[in-house]
Amino acid sequence: MSISFEVFAKESRRLLESQMTEYAKAVLCPAVLRDAMLYSLEAGGKRIRPLLLFATLHAFQKKREIGLAAASALEMIHTYSLIHDDLPCMDDDELRRGKPTNHKVFGEAMAVLAGDGLLTYAFQVLAENRHPEVTEAMNLRLVLELAKAAGPEGMVAGQVADMEAEGKQLTLSQLEYIHQNKTGRLLEFSVLAGAVLAGASLAQTEELMEFARNLGLAFQIRDDILDVEGNEEEIGKRVGSDVANEKSTYTTLFSMEEAKQILHETTERAKNAVRSLQLQDEYLLQICELVAKRTH
Ligand code: IPE
Ligand code: IPE
Ligand code: MG
Ligand code: MG
Ligand code: MG
Repeated sequence: MSISFEVFAKESRRLLESQMTEYAKAVLCPAVLRDAMLYSLEAGGKRIRPLLLFATLHAFQKKREIGLAAASALEMIHTYSLIHDDLPCMDDDELRRGKPTNHKVFGEAMAVLAGDGLLTYAFQVLAENRHPEVTEAMNLRLVLELAKAAGPEGMVAGQVADMEAEGKQLTLSQLEYIHQNKTGRLLEFSVLAGAVLAGASLAQTEELMEFARNLGLAFQIRDDILDVEGNEEEIGKRVGSDVANEKSTYTTLFSMEEAKQILHETTERAKNAVRSLQLQDEYLLQICELVAKRTH
């Protein structure tokens, strides 16, 4: 019998957060830089990417500990992307994870540098991982896949397309490109890292990627919806940011009702992909529910 999803998620968060704090405290750097990195790392957040990685390991009956370094690296990269995304030159937001954004507290230059620090340190954490069950070949694969997912062939490309699309009417395939890259790629990496560390077969990995692609898209559709009808207190960021920045989103290309229907269909596709694998998939399926219904 597995522990309940709620307990699994709570334990995962505790494990990840204590490990990330330990990593951040070990950095030899100016105190103000560490403070700025820790401020955003410890601000909270749902930690859905690490949870997804751990749930993928669980699907193969593997322990979370082997994915702790990868989950920390992933959350560091995600946190950096939010710090930069909030800058005045990008989405110009003042609230994140219920707190003033990094640049509001530390200034723009330090926020850029804290982001740079987290981005680079994430790869140091991955490369230095010496867990006995994680081979050098696995480490190298994770470094490569994270670079591809987060860099100019992944998230950064999505952010560029997102910025360039401001004020423009997009086609559905252009919007999908943005969502799949700016958000999907890191969520896909979360699942891929679990598959690599669990020693999944090629066929299993391909089906897991089908799951992750749909989950990633669903996650960003929900983010678009929450930007319109979310509760600021609950989501910890300003609502209406997309309208203010003239972004194309699922709620501008479609009616709210249609956007919710597409979200539902996309989530179902994710669930079907994961079910077809016949793994210990209960937590992965619950993450699908969480993503489709989340209010923060
Ligand atoms: C926000 O990500 C940015 C997107 C990619 C939509 P999350 O919604 O996962 O943010 P946190 O980590 O919970 O703050
Ligand atoms: C951000 O997308 C994606 C990345 C940070 C890579 P959004 O701009 O929609 O995220 P929020 O709504 O500010 O969290
Ligand atoms: Mg943005
Ligand atoms: Mg934003
Ligand atoms: Mg958004």
